[in-house]
Amino acid sequence: MAYRLWFPVAVVLLHLFASLVIATPQGDALIQVAKDWQTSFSSWLPGTDPCKNSWVGVGCDADHINVISLNLTNSNLRGPVPMVIGNLTSLEALDISNVKYTDMNLNAVTGNVSALAPLRNLQLLNISRNVLGVTKFPEVVQTLLNIRSLRFEHDLIPGPFPVGLTNLKKIEYLYLGNNSFSGPIPKELGLMTSLKELTIWGSNYNSKLPPEIGNLVNLTYLNCNRCFLWGGLPPEYGKLKNLEKLHFYKNTLTGPIPDEYRNLTNLIELRIESNQLFGSFEPWIIGLPNIQLVNVNFNQLYKSLPPVIDRTTTNLTQMYVKCNYFTGKYPLIDPSFTTEFDANCYDNPGVNGTFDVMCSRELSCIPFQSFLTSNGGCPPCPNGQYLANKTLCICYGDKIATSNKEYPISAIVGGAVGGAVVAAVALLLICLCMRRRRKFDPDRDFFNTEVRDGGKVEPWDAPKGVQRYTLDDLVRATNNFSKEHEIGSGGFGKVFYGNFPGNKKLAIKRASTSTSANGQTQFRNEVLLLSRLHHKNLVRLEGFCDENNLQILVYEYMRNGNLHSHLFRKSAGKYLDWYKRLEIAVHIAQGLEYIHSFADPPVIHRDVKPTNILLDGNLVAKVADFGISKESLELHTHVSTNPAGTVGYFDPEYFTTQKLTTASDVYSFGVVLLELLTGQKVIDHVSRGEEYNLIKWVERRVEEGGVDLIVDTKLEGNYPRQIFLKMATLALHCSASEKKERPTMKAVVTALEPLLREVGRPKAETEAVWTELPAEAADNESTFTGSSSQSFSHHGALKQSKAVIDPR
Ligand SMILES: Nc1ncnc2c1ncn2[C@@H]1O[C@H](COP(=O)(O)OP(=O)(O)OP(=O)(O)O)[C@@H](O)[C@H]1O
Ligand SMILES: *[C@@H]1O[C@H](CO)[C@@H](O)[C@H](O)[C@H]1NC(C)=O
Ligand SMILES: *[C@@H]1O[C@H](CO)[C@@H](O)[C@H](O)[C@H]1NC(C)=O
Ligand SMILES: *[C@@H]1O[C@H](CO)[C@@H](O)[C@H](O)[C@H]1NC(C)=O
Ligand SMILES: *[C@@H]1O[C@H](CO)[C@@H](O)[C@H](O)[C@H]1NC(C)=O
Ligand SMILES: *[C@@H]1O[C@H](CO)[C@@H](O)[C@H](O)[C@H]1NC(C)=O
Ligand SMILES: *[C@@H]1O[C@H](CO)[C@@H](O)[C@H](O)[C@H]1NC(C)=O
Ligand SMILES: *[C@@H]1O[C@H](CO)[C@@H](O)[C@H](O)[C@H]1NC(C)=O
Ligand SMILES: *[C@@H]1O[C@H](CO)[C@@H](O)[C@H](O)[C@H]1NC(C)=O
Ligand SMILES: *[C@@H]1O[C@H](CO)[C@@H](O)[C@H](O)[C@H]1NC(C)=O
Ligand SMILES: *[C@@H]1O[C@H](CO)[C@@H](O)[C@H](O)[C@H]1NC(C)=O
Ligand SMILES: [Mg+2]
Repeated sequence: MAYRLWFPVAVVLLHLFASLVIATPQGDALIQVAKDWQTSFSSWLPGTDPCKNSWVGVGCDADHINVISLNLTNSNLRGPVPMVIGNLTSLEALDISNVKYTDMNLNAVTGNVSALAPLRNLQLLNISRNVLGVTKFPEVVQTLLNIRSLRFEHDLIPGPFPVGLTNLKKIEYLYLGNNSFSGPIPKELGLMTSLKELTIWGSNYNSKLPPEIGNLVNLTYLNCNRCFLWGGLPPEYGKLKNLEKLHFYKNTLTGPIPDEYRNLTNLIELRIESNQLFGSFEPWIIGLPNIQLVNVNFNQLYKSLPPVIDRTTTNLTQMYVKCNYFTGKYPLIDPSFTTEFDANCYDNPGVNGTFDVMCSRELSCIPFQSFLTSNGGCPPCPNGQYLANKTLCICYGDKIATSNKEYPISAIVGGAVGGAVVAAVALLLICLCMRRRRKFDPDRDFFNTEVRDGGKVEPWDAPKGVQRYTLDDLVRATNNFSKEHEIGSGGFGKVFYGNFPGNKKLAIKRASTSTSANGQTQFRNEVLLLSRLHHKNLVRLEGFCDENNLQILVYEYMRNGNLHSHLFRKSAGKYLDWYKRLEIAVHIAQGLEYIHSFADPPVIHRDVKPTNILLDGNLVAKVADFGISKESLELHTHVSTNPAGTVGYFDPEYFTTQKLTTASDVYSFGVVLLELLTGQKVIDHVSRGEEYNLIKWVERRVEEGGVDLIVDTKLEGNYPRQIFLKMATLALHCSASEKKERPTMKAVVTALEPLLREVGRPKAETEAVWTELPAEAADNESTFTGSSSQSFSHHGALKQSKAVIDPR
């Protein structure tokens, strides 16, 4: 009883007494600490006890005896950690960080922190946002064996990652973000099994992720964004079954999202945006039971997304997938989700034209600035694409021509990076040339258009059957490349016709093979290959010019120009009647069948489309631009992964297989055949809207209403329905999205040829063979995008014959 009564009184008295006591060793030490750090606190009164009077920032144990915590955030600390701090041996927590960046002028703790060595009881240490100015991570920290929580963030500490921290067997929270560590992330981190949170973001590790981190089974948070990581996501991390947040954004990680991550059933946030991840996006990712946020923006993921994304399929609330290469349907998304889905390669582009349909990266896709050192600040392009515009970081994978402002930019399938440089130089040149028209000067316009390797020409015997021309020959034949000799323009520049001795008219264009060391060899191999390809439906190579390292090809002149310009004009019904169209289809098929069967491995055209079908004086169709740089024998493996082609005509299987095959030509042929039947362009957002792709448009209409609904109205009903139905069916068959459903060119020829015989040439028009179709100008019209060859531009090096003969 007496004890109960007297106890509180005693405590009060003790307190009174204590506050009168002259000094405590801890108080003295703290006062000295403040002094050494060039600061002071009004509540820290000399002669009082820090545990019995409320010293700001000081925390004591329950008995008010020992100082166990010191929180001096934003306290105007200056200079090194005072040695006397070591007198506070009971200290368990020390926070001398700044709270925000803007406070960094407040605490400015500098120098080494070896004064902490005596603090054997320290469990929490936070020295973030200071300016330590050390040359490596302080070793003393690695001796504080009771540490549970350690923060050295934003301290710009250089040197290797502090492997010695693995000594800290009790550590649960390790925050080392935003330093300047270099060298690999050590695999020893995998020994720190007590870790719950590990964030080591923002250093230049330049390494792979160590699989050993997968052993940290208690980990809930793993953050290594901006770590200069490369290599793949380790499948071993699928073992982190407690993981809630995984942040690996802004690195250069490659490869797929491992299937093992299905086991991350506690994952809430997956942030792997701005990498180079490649592969599919499997539905299980959004099906993880706890997932709320997925961000895979700015990667190279392809294949399709789950078709439906709503509350029945996922617990997600935020999903970001923009700037990838997703194909297939644009998913149906619950509108209450926060999403970013644009800039992909969907079949059905956004209803408002906001989504990219071209598989090209747009301005908003320029990601991470640390790529600034290479590629002019752009991330690497995906396989088979090249950087076509370094200002906008646009990778071109396809090309598309359109006059509609809403769907801008022509995008191209191109070749290697080397090609990008050539293309960029050439583009720039064309831009300049367009602005300032000037007279042709071979020195300037030929020799300065690109870098050449010193003009050393190894002796070479031209293959039989082709003529070797000098530049002089060509200048003479074209009257110094005068405007009157221009017959067209494609890729980078113009195509000319020339009058050669013997009253021969020939077409001159430049091959845009690489100008690198082996460019010359490549060019010669191609000339060799072309010189052997002879067929009535192939535009024949007559000669070449390799003087001064130029790579110019000289072809037979095709008097009636290209199929595109005839098919898409008002008079197309008259000059290209139904029979002519069937004939042209047979011609193209025969030409392609020939190149496919000519050699093993086969020659693949890669860019079958109406501007590459040329018509001679008798309206015989011949395939142009085959062979070169596409399937030269020597470069087989190289080129097979580098496509060239045009959107709409381009084999969609490429996006899954990364390979172009003869079946890719069959696909393009199918599209050209559809254009022949319908007189419509493969891509037309303006007149067909949602069904902008001709294949889909034809498919649906033929199915629902028969062939009459699709045939070119310019034919005014003059066509044999049965035959056109057969052709349409064949065309759809050829342009099946799956390669295995397409026939071979041989089968196509076998199917088409009998149709010609079946009907025979119609009487009325039979003899009306035009020797020359009327000039385009006669009925030039807006439906023919006269500038198409301009906007169909920018090829990579491996795209052939992008004539750069540009005299202006
Ligand atoms: N041998 C030729 N005879 C007559 N005209 C030709 C010949 N070669 C090319 N042309 C004309 O020059 C145009 C441009 O040809 P080029 O191959 O450079 O570009 P393109 O095929 O129109 O487009 P792309 O650059 O996308 O292939 C052709 O469309 C055609 O009208
Ligand atoms: C710190 O401790 C040392 C030795 O225990 C002692 O000599 C010194 O006076 C103390 N310093 C202060 C400021 O209390
Ligand atoms: C120290 O105080 C700041 C605010 O003054 C607070 O944000 C921080 O969490 C505290 N540190 C510790 C270790 O509690
Ligand atoms: C310093 O780190 C500790 C431990 O992680 C944390 O509790 C504290 O809030 C941090 N201080 C500040 C100012 O953020
Ligand atoms: C750290 O600083 C103290 C004095 O400030 C000095 O005695 C010690 O040698 C230094 N340690 C290192 C590793 O630089
Ligand atoms: C990293 O730290 C530095 C200085 O400590 C700071 O200026 C910078 O903003 C920080 N970076 C990030 C991304 O927080
Ligand atoms: C993981 O956490 C559990 C529960 O907190 C604990 O019992 C276990 O010891 C921890 N594992 C390791 C390796 O520290
Ligand atoms: C998930 O974990 C289980 C065991 O925990 C294992 O048997 C299975 O193979 C794992 N799944 C994957 C996809 O790794
Ligand atoms: C969403 O979360 C609930 C509760 O955690 C869970 O039962 C359900 O399976 C989750 N839904 C999906 C689609 O994973
Ligand atoms: C398209 O535009 C309409 C009207 O501006 C808007 O209500 C709708 O949400 C837009 N759709 C998309 C998918 O952006
Ligand atoms: C890249 O695109 C920008 C904006 O459209 C344009 O101004 C620039 O000329 C382009 N650069 C090249 C090399 O085409
Ligand atoms: Mg062409």
